[in-house]
Amino acid sequence: MKQSINSALAGLTVSAALSLQPMGVAAENTAYPDVDTGPVFNGKGELAQPKGFREWVFIGAPLTPHALNDSKAGFPEFHNVYVEPAAYLYYKKTGKWPEGTVLVKELQLTKRGTYADGSRTEASGRGYFPAAPNGLDVSVKDSRRFARTNNWGFFNFGHHAPPYASLAEAAPKQACAGCHMSSAHEDMVFSDFYQQLKPLPVSDR
Ligand code: HEC
Repeated sequence: MKQSINSALAGLTVSAALSLQPMGVAAENTAYPDVDTGPVFNGKGELAQPKGFREWVFIGAPLTPHALNDSKAGFPEFHNVYVEPAAYLYYKKTGKWPEGTVLVKELQLTKRGTYADGSRTEASGRGYFPAAPNGLDVSVKDSRRFARTNNWGFFNFGHHAPPYASLAEAAPKQACAGCHMSSAHEDMVFSDFYQQLKPLPVSDR
């Protein structure tokens, strides 16, 4: 008797667990087995803004200030680049970005300059110093969805102060992917700029 109650309870737990599983989650996980937090798309193919990306692995911050671009820099901010941690570990191990890799580029303004070139002096010297966040660009590796643009899709969530858009549609090839296709260093990513992807030599002394 006790046994049959136990097995009935076990059955209940399993069916309760199954019915609690949110729709679509299982499908996403099987599509991206090598990442923990893959991209989330809605039925229209729009990408949800990646959650918690500032806790991901920070891999670099290129800077293209106005002063060096005839005052016409498209993105005069720091370009802070983050990658989802499981995708980062996979890349470090294999040298390849897994399906479901999400890379985030959050733009961050420089503090108001006191010199003509927009720089200022702080305790560490003269230069450019980070100020408010100002935009969000995302790239996603999914060879099924984005076969026509070398397996990567590109999304812009706004070039302005947060809050950024909660959803973004895939940008047209000429807006983003085209340049990454012709100029990126390796698999659509400007990996040479991200030295954090390389092992850090440690002294044995
Ligand atoms: C004219 C060329 C060009 C265009 C167009 C372009 N990018 Fe990039 N992108 C770059 C370069 C160069 C880098 C790396 C250096 C930097 O940040 O300036 C980069 C870096 C990135 C990164 C960081 C990861 C990586 O690949 O290095 C993301 C994410 C990104 N771009 C998304 C976008 C999105 C989204 C668009 C369209 C809205 C876009 N890019 C359009 C040239 C381009």
